[in-house]
Amino acid sequence: IIVVLIASFGLVGCSKEGASTVKVLKVGTDAGFAPFEFQDEKSKEYVGFDMDLIKALGKQMGYEVQIQNMNFDGLIPGLEVNSIDAVASGMTITEARKQKVNFTKPYYQAGLTIVVKNDNNAIKNFKDLEGKKIAVQIGTTGAAEAKKIKDAQVREFNNAPEAFMELKAGGVDAVVNDKPVNEYYIAQSGSKDAKTVGEPLQAEEYGIAVAKKNTELAGKLDKALDELKKNGEYEKIYVKWFGK
Ligand code: ARG
Repeated sequence: IIVVLIASFGLVGCSKEGASTVKVLKVGTDAGFAPFEFQDEKSKEYVGFDMDLIKALGKQMGYEVQIQNMNFDGLIPGLEVNSIDAVASGMTITEARKQKVNFTKPYYQAGLTIVVKNDNNAIKNFKDLEGKKIAVQIGTTGAAEAKKIKDAQVREFNNAPEAFMELKAGGVDAVVNDKPVNEYYIAQSGSKDAKTVGEPLQAEEYGIAVAKKNTELAGKLDKALDELKKNGEYEKIYVKWFGK
C-alpha cells in the first residue's frame, strides 16, 4: 500500500509540475521546402530557417515547440480546427489568407521565380510560360500565379520536391515556386540540370500564421520577433541559412 501511495503521489506531483512549467506550441509545417523546412536525413529532425526561427521564438515566449509535418494545403485548416497553434512554413501573407487566419509581421522577403532545365533557352520570363506545362505545389501562391498564365497547363503536386522531380523527368517545361527555395534546390543539385530564370514576379512576405481568433498569440509572436531582431538572434539564424 505504501509503495502504491508513494508511486501515485509521485505521478500526481510530476504531472502537475509539468503542466505548470511547460507550455507547448504546436507548429504545423510542410517540411519539403528547403532551406526553410526540411527533414535532416541523419537526425530525422525538422531543420531550416523557419524551424530555427520558430524554436527561438518559442524559447523567447517560454514555450516548448512541437513540430507537426503536414501537407501545405492542410495547414490553414489545421489552425481552423485547432489541431495546431501556429504555422511556420514559408507562408506568404496574402489578402485571401488574411480572411481566414492572423499573420504576424513579415519575417522574410521572397518572391516567385521560374525553374527550367539547363538547356531550355525558350523560357526566360513569365510571359514565355504562355501555353507551357508548369508544375507547382498545390495551395501555394506559385499555383495561383501559374493558373493566371494564358493557356498554361498547370499540374499541381503535393509538395515542391515532387514538382522539381517532374521537371527533371521531362513531364513539364517549368516549375513556378519561391525564389529562395528554387535557388537552394539548384545549388544542392549541383546546378547541372536546372536553372532559375525570370525576375521575381512580385514581392512576397512570409508570416507566421495563427488562428483568426488567436490575436493574443499573434501579438506574443510579434513581440518575440522584435526581441530576436534586437538581440541579434534573428540575424544569426538568417546568416546560418542564407549567408551574408
Ligand atoms: N510562399 C508560398 C505560399 O505561401 C509557398 C510556401 C510553401 N511552403 C512549404 N513549406 N511548402 O504559397
